[in-house]
Amino acid sequence: MATKTTEAPTTLAASHEVAAGAAQFLTPVVLDLEALVVNGKQAHWHVRGGSFIGIHELLDTVVSDAQGFADTAAERVVALGLPLDARLATVAAKSTLPALSDGFQPWETTVAQVVGLIDAALVTVRAAVTGLDDIDLSSQDVAIEIERGLTKDRWLLQAHIAA
Ligand SMILES: [Fe+2]
Repeated sequence: MATKTTEAPTTLAASHEVAAGAAQFLTPVVLDLEALVVNGKQAHWHVRGGSFIGIHELLDTVVSDAQGFADTAAERVVALGLPLDARLATVAAKSTLPALSDGFQPWETTVAQVVGLIDAALVTVRAAVTGLDDIDLSSQDVAIEIERGLTKDRWLLQAHIAA
């Protein structure tokens, strides 16, 4: 009688090169998205003016989407067997997002600044899409999904101030 094994075939394990590539390109994505979560909430709380409620509520969508995207990217790295450092101090030190103005802001300023945050994150995400093309298509797919979602949220915000 044949003996069944419960061990996964070793050929299905991610190679070190694949895991390292995913970590190299997706970790910066996680750091920028976590920064977008924190500063997106800051913007949500401090927006003022005639379009207050629309922007206030839309920023919650931006934050919620960014947190979901960060989770997907981080868990891809971990699923391949590597840790990542997305601790608060690391996010603050390494995120590429520009600074956000302090205190209450007119809604036009809030929209322009959050679009700026998303634009910086998109540079990082698009670098991941390009960089992962030769390394791991599933990790690239994660980056592509995030690029599509962030670009949509950017549109929903930017349309408020577009000519
Ligand atoms: Fe809120």
